[in-house]
Amino acid sequence: MAGNKDSDGGWRRFLWNSEKGEFLGRTGCSWFKIFMFYLIFYGCLAGIFIGTIQAMLLTLSNYKPTYQDRVAPPGLSHTPRSLKSEIAFNRSDKSTYEKYVKSLEDLLHPYTDELQTEQMKFEDCGVTPDSYKDRGSAEAEAGQRMACRFYRSLLDKCSGESDASFGFKEGKPCLIVKLNRIVNFRPRAPDNHSLPEAVQNIQMANVIPIHCKNKREGEEDKVGEIQYYGMGQGFPLQYYPYYGKRLHPQYLQPLVAIHFTNVTQNQEVRIECKVYGANIDYSEKDRYQGRFEVKFTITS
Ligand SMILES: *[C@@H]1O[C@H](CO)[C@@H](O)[C@H](O)[C@H]1NC(C)=O
Ligand SMILES: *[C@@H]1O[C@H](CO)[C@@H](O)[C@H](O)[C@H]1NC(C)=O
Ligand SMILES: *[C@@H]1O[C@H](CO)[C@@H](O)[C@H](O)[C@H]1NC(C)=O
Repeated sequence: MAGNKDSDGGWRRFLWNSEKGEFLGRTGCSWFKIFMFYLIFYGCLAGIFIGTIQAMLLTLSNYKPTYQDRVAPPGLSHTPRSLKSEIAFNRSDKSTYEKYVKSLEDLLHPYTDELQTEQMKFEDCGVTPDSYKDRGSAEAEAGQRMACRFYRSLLDKCSGESDASFGFKEGKPCLIVKLNRIVNFRPRAPDNHSLPEAVQNIQMANVIPIHCKNKREGEEDKVGEIQYYGMGQGFPLQYYPYYGKRLHPQYLQPLVAIHFTNVTQNQEVRIECKVYGANIDYSEKDRYQGRFEVKFTITS
């Protein structure tokens, strides 16, 4: 220890040099200048950063997405939905279809009549398809928008009211379908010419029709009769546009129930459903864009 005195002193002098008044090799004035330099330097960096973010936030609206050009046309979602779109059940065994019934009940819960009574939040928009219901521009001033009522009784035998098993008990299952919500999207009714024959006799004004058929060639008989419930066998246009979660919190999507009343039992039956609209198309990559497929296997 004693031999280190010299070097020890050198180190101590570097820490505090009392002759020159330097701390760590710099005078107080020099330290102050360095401190000020970095303060201003980082201050400017932070300013630029915050400024850029603020400028970008100013261009965004709370109420509608700024960039919507890459949003795909709406997907179709169906309930019940299951892995690989397989709906297999034994109609004599309640436990095999209980989960399907549960998912239908959950879906329909917001459509309960008692939840649509508030006069300030809901309005009647008719029970036949009608034109778009414009509720002003998608800016905040006008406040929350009313939602069109959609009563589950429109779904007839698939409403869960007359048949709590949604047809599963009789081997005549219901599917309930909706078009996924897209803010400010106005689906357009299809042109009469481009439609398959089966869809041409649906009343087409102001509705996006939906149609299901056998997926495999020559299986029409296996699919059997299909009934559609809702408004005009499709999605009526008075439920559009949707103004987004903040402006349209009570919004109810229109529903279509598809009732398969004579599906062949004891084998797999593949069905494809499609919606038709002038601005709705289909994609090879996305099997739910504008269409979907289900496989029924009903045993007893
Ligand atoms: C369906 O359920 C019934 C009653 O539980 C049973 O007797 C029958 O064997 C089941 N059928 C099949 C194919 O599992
Ligand atoms: C579409 O065409 C069919 C015949 O091809 C016709 O019966 C029907 O009225 C037309 N519908 C509309 C909305 O023009
Ligand atoms: C159900 O389909 C079968 C053929 O798969 C047919 O013979 C029968 O008439 C159909 N029943 C009804 C009510 O349409």
